[in-house]
Amino acid sequence: MIVNLPLVLLRKSVGVRCKMVKIGNIQLPDFPLLLAPMEDVSDPPFRAVCKDNGADLMYTEFISSEGLIRDAIKSRKKLDIFEYERPVGIQIFGGDEDSLAMAAKIVEVTNPDLLDINFGCPVKKVALKGAGAGVLKDIDLMVRLTSAVVKATSLPVTVKTRLGWDDKTRNIEEVAERLQDVGIQALAIHGRTRTQMYKGEADWTLIGKVKNNPRIKIPIFGNGDIDSPEKAVEYKNRYGVDGIMIGRAAIGYPWIFNEIKHFIKTSEHLPPPTIEDRLFVCRKHLNKSIEWKNPVVGINEMRRHYANYLKGLPNIKEFRNKLVTLTTEEEINAVFDEIAKTYGCYEFEKTPIELVNYHEKCPVE
Ligand SMILES: Cc1cc2nc3c(=O)[nH]c(=O)nc-3n(C[C@H](O)[C@H](O)[C@H](O)COP(=O)(O)O)c2cc1C
Repeated sequence: MIVNLPLVLLRKSVGVRCKMVKIGNIQLPDFPLLLAPMEDVSDPPFRAVCKDNGADLMYTEFISSEGLIRDAIKSRKKLDIFEYERPVGIQIFGGDEDSLAMAAKIVEVTNPDLLDINFGCPVKKVALKGAGAGVLKDIDLMVRLTSAVVKATSLPVTVKTRLGWDDKTRNIEEVAERLQDVGIQALAIHGRTRTQMYKGEADWTLIGKVKNNPRIKIPIFGNGDIDSPEKAVEYKNRYGVDGIMIGRAAIGYPWIFNEIKHFIKTSEHLPPPTIEDRLFVCRKHLNKSIEWKNPVVGINEMRRHYANYLKGLPNIKEFRNKLVTLTTEEEINAVFDEIAKTYGCYEFEKTPIELVNYHEKCPVE
């Protein structure tokens, strides 16, 4: 559903285009497309294939500030970033000023382009412990936490959050103004409340209002449910945001970034990725997984991605079953060769990208 905005807002939003977007000293292209931070998804191997396919700014998965301070191996590993990824942001979460400030200093040493604070994670283990979207219940606390991070680091600090805690407290306009006042340099807004989790459709009306608030000078990035070039252009024009952040649509379909860029430029669609394109991404993702982790873990973690990359191929099940049991890169690449031979001339149809309702079974309270 596309909600109609008052015409005046619409005109204003259309009129602000054609400018480069800056976050601190980071120069992004006009209307940048951002890869959303996604736990267990947006790791370096996945980011590598998204970068190849047009993502302009990427984020790590969220990292616990407490975990970083405790030197937890899992949290530390998530700090890995590579030169070819730039610009890249590291995202942290937490509910304590001192911990967040200390985590910011640890992050700074790894030299990302920016540091992002997560005030949007809805899952119980985070939100009900007063971090992530839990902070949306207490805007004064959110301001203090943000201010502590801004003061602790010389990196540009950005925030990613939701519209509010629930339908009665959709306070993103106040949040945006107050966070800008304490020094954040960009804001990404997911058009849902915390209690919505992933249900219903993202509502971009308030995102548009924040963007068109004359007090707001920082870039505003819209996020939620973008799954096609048409929708990206529609929302770009309707809500006037400075750029769009894409999460689920990129899972198994990193081509979404270049497809949107091409459509913005030409109003025409790129052809769907060929079997060669898909296998190239599979090989690279696998190779990077092995390089980043190790052969055993890398090959294991890659298994969940094949179904997505090879979606739409008739009778692919047998190959897929092989891919998820093999244990060496050579064997897996040999199956990719077989797939290339079998489906070399296959013409993919343009099919809508399916957005999974994550956390569907996750209790809200
Ligand atoms: C598997 C998964 C993991 C996520 N992990 C994070 C995270 O670590 N940090 C964060 O800010 N948002 C996280 N999100 C939320 C996304 O960044 C994004 O806001 C949300 O998926 C809506 O965008 P989309 O409709 O384009 O997917 C996650 C989403 C998914 C699906």
